[in-house]
Amino acid sequence: MSNNLLTVAYIAASALFILSLGGLSNQESARKGNLYGILGMLIAFVATATVLPHGITEYATLSTVILPGVVIGAIVASRVAMTSMPELVAILHSFVGAAAVLVGVANYLEPNSSLTGVEATIHQLEIFIGVFIGAVTFTGSIIAFGKLRAIISSKSLMLPARHWLNLGMILASVWLGFQFMGTGSLSGLPALLIMCAIASLLGIHLVLAIGGADMPVVISMLNSYSGWAAAAAGFMLSNDLLIITGALVGSSGAILSYIMCKAMNRSFISVIAGGFGAGAGSGSAAPIEGEATATTVDEAAEMLKDAKSVIIVPGYGMAVAQAQHAVSDITRTLRDRGTQVRFGIHPVAGRLPGHMNVLLAEADVPYDIVLEMDEINEDFAKTDAVLVIGANDTVNPSAIEDPNSAIAGMPVLEVWNSTNVIVLKRSMASGYAGVENPLFYKSNTKMLFGDAKKNVDALLGKLSYA
Ligand code: TAP
Repeated sequence: MSNNLLTVAYIAASALFILSLGGLSNQESARKGNLYGILGMLIAFVATATVLPHGITEYATLSTVILPGVVIGAIVASRVAMTSMPELVAILHSFVGAAAVLVGVANYLEPNSSLTGVEATIHQLEIFIGVFIGAVTFTGSIIAFGKLRAIISSKSLMLPARHWLNLGMILASVWLGFQFMGTGSLSGLPALLIMCAIASLLGIHLVLAIGGADMPVVISMLNSYSGWAAAAAGFMLSNDLLIITGALVGSSGAILSYIMCKAMNRSFISVIAGGFGAGAGSGSAAPIEGEATATTVDEAAEMLKDAKSVIIVPGYGMAVAQAQHAVSDITRTLRDRGTQVRFGIHPVAGRLPGHMNVLLAEADVPYDIVLEMDEINEDFAKTDAVLVIGANDTVNPSAIEDPNSAIAGMPVLEVWNSTNVIVLKRSMASGYAGVENPLFYKSNTKMLFGDAKKNVDALLGKLSYA
């Protein structure tokens, strides 16, 4: 492929990636956004592959790694359950980090001899920074994977003087950077590898220190890191498309992290410095008084029949129960009866940005009745019944009422302001943040215990034969 054609292909792929991000920002255009992304990646892949020096060895070697990769990727992606998607994303981020480290070390071991003077110095700097970001991303993403899969406790690790520890590791890396720069003929390799080990520890410590409800920020932050790691690899390989793609992922991940922090009323710096998930409040949470009231499917169905307006608040439990289609059916049935039905979506409901929106879209719930927290929060006071389906932390009043709660200050869906609240969950267990929920003990709350899918189906049965 000629260089001009390659440039055109890269520009087309970059434009498609930008269109893809634009499409993904809205539910109605998300499918189209995905298609743009796939097309862009296809063009990028074919253009990059055809630009290889023509020799059968390269293609033969490449195909021995690409083909198994393609097959494994396709099988894993087609089998993954929606509830395990965050783990998959986390582990994929770790691959980007590992790739950046390997590209950096390989680049150092086999330098581009055409670079001299300032260019060679800049290239060395690219290698050092690329390996640093890659190592932090690699180990941080593995820890995030472990936390999301519950292999590692989601509680934050609070080592004494942890901020000093982080600062020490960063300063040591900077010092090693000075030792590394300007060294010739591989003598900087020890400094590079020691920095890589320190950066790996930093990645582990940074993510271990973030706990509970702050995990969404970690995921989007690692997404951003993986973008910068890819951009760094792009600089090392002098690949413009990789630089552009990495910068797009890096900056969109950073914007997403900022949005997540805003949604949770957390300062971005405090979250990435770690330890905030352990408790926004300094003291112990207030004890909960009263008793929870259990209800039955019959009673809950009567409540829904009498309601003129209903808001459904889904959470992680709806994803676990795979109840989205049943929820869509009950929405249709209630609307056919003349009830106003809307959805209230918390920005960090579930385990993935947009998790609930994706599930509801999959179940064909009309987009115009799916509202964000800020759009619907004031309407709870004017609502007859709220169905909380597998949500917990995102509807926890202690975030507002108890300054000592671990999630104090996080904006939540104020469902308790409505006339009746029906909570569908299996037990009194707490949610992801491990915080008790006073909502369950409020006088206008009824607990409908059991699997969300089973109970929504049962409610649907009662409403359909009314
Ligand atoms: P959670 O607070 O995690 O609570 C989910 C509830 O669903 C649990 O209390 C569980 O109670 C219930 N549940 C589980 N399986 C169920 C089933 N089959 N049927 C019925 N109920 C079931 O959910 P949320 O309100 O969506 O909040 C999300 C939390 O995850 C937040 O703390 C958020 O910070 C965190 N987080 C979010 C993300 C993103 S990006 N969204 C990423 C990582 C972490 P039972 O066991 O009693 O049934």
